[in-house]
Amino acid sequence: MKRVDDFRLKFGKKEFVPIIVGGMGVDISTAELALETARLGGIGHISDAMVPDVSDRRFDTSFVKDKTRFYKANIDNSDKSIIKFDLGVLAEATRRHVEATMQAKGSEGLIFVNCMEKLTMNGPRETLQVRMASALDAGIDGITLSAGLHLGSFGLIADHPRFRDAKLGIIVSSVRALQLFLRKNARLERKPDYVIVEGPLAGGHLGFGMDWAQYDLATIVAEVVQFMKTEHLDIPVIAAGGIFTGSDAVSFLEQGVAAVQVATRFTVANECGLPAEVKQDYFRASEADIVVNTISPTGYPMRMLKGSPAIGAGIRPNCEAYGYLLDGNGNCAYITAYNREVALHPDSKTISVMDKTCLCTHMRNFKLWTCGHYTYRLKDTTRRLADGSYQTLSAEHIFKDYQFSVDQKVALPV
Ligand SMILES: Cc1cc2nc3c(=O)[nH]c(=O)nc-3n(C[C@H](O)[C@H](O)[C@H](O)COP(=O)(O)O)c2cc1C
Repeated sequence: MKRVDDFRLKFGKKEFVPIIVGGMGVDISTAELALETARLGGIGHISDAMVPDVSDRRFDTSFVKDKTRFYKANIDNSDKSIIKFDLGVLAEATRRHVEATMQAKGSEGLIFVNCMEKLTMNGPRETLQVRMASALDAGIDGITLSAGLHLGSFGLIADHPRFRDAKLGIIVSSVRALQLFLRKNARLERKPDYVIVEGPLAGGHLGFGMDWAQYDLATIVAEVVQFMKTEHLDIPVIAAGGIFTGSDAVSFLEQGVAAVQVATRFTVANECGLPAEVKQDYFRASEADIVVNTISPTGYPMRMLKGSPAIGAGIRPNCEAYGYLLDGNGNCAYITAYNREVALHPDSKTISVMDKTCLCTHMRNFKLWTCGHYTYRLKDTTRRLADGSYQTLSAEHIFKDYQFSVDQKVALPV
């Protein structure tokens, strides 16, 4: 019987344990989690979502305070179109986050940054360009493009000196999205170094509609693997979404994928950025506590715990401080929904907005508990303590359980 450790992910001459811990913004996949993954011989991710805020917390900078002060006069204005990101600040925050992480890496494993296209930041092209270029400047091993088709993203960094040496990959949820990406980038003569196929059971935003349950990761992976063969493309395919045990991973590796990307199991790791009490909510969740809804202003469905305080919270949009989801014209679906509720309830002190959420604020404050489909199985991966709480796990324990377990077993912590 095979285990994950019988396989290796190969990039050129280098070999890695074929376990990638996926990016989880905002700073849920911390530098500590990524560093541990790399130390164990796999690939870890940090995220560049809301990176000025991450920098403030990690390095005591004051980027968010400064931006809020700069746009203070606009706070009561429902029109947020004047709010722009200072590209110099964005570059510096990215550089700090990435450089500190890479300097701490003393291992052969790799650290990538997860870069979501849907963070349009009221200037989609220029902000994305700065985010990617600054991460490359700061020595990141690779960039995983996510939450979007990224048809122009390679083009934005084609002139960067590291464009051909850094590892660049993309997350897709269909063979069609991959074909489109390859076609649009053909002129650059630079293929992605890896393709992550993310199925409908993943955490975070889903690359499917609300009919997500009709799709199945194994089928999409088989289509992508076949496409690579037909096109004579030698690009590692990585499967993600709902891979909960080492045995689940082995079944994908035997199907021809080069590695798996996992995340949910690591949400309850000591190194994960979620607050301790929120980790307990993840442990306690039952299947009925998990929902896929459309409250994210990005337009993508998102999976989360039903108890997330973000659901229904009618807070004032906080774009002066954040504004990561403002499209190129200063709009965000939450602002529209909020303004509608305010107009409907002019005399109310507090309002509730059910159809959309202020994603920036709630993700930043760990009030939107996004999670994978199998979150309800987390309680089976640990022990219950005398006070009724669940014991959090080390990332090393979870990583090694994926690496060495067989027979659908999950090793409990000692
Ligand atoms: C808490 C959480 C946050 C996530 N945030 C992001 C993100 O910011 N960007 C992204 O591309 N994927 C995100 N994901 C998806 C993961 O990177 C990963 O591909 C997926 O969840 C793997 O499936 P699994 O969680 O069932 O193991 C997130 C997943 C979780 C559980």
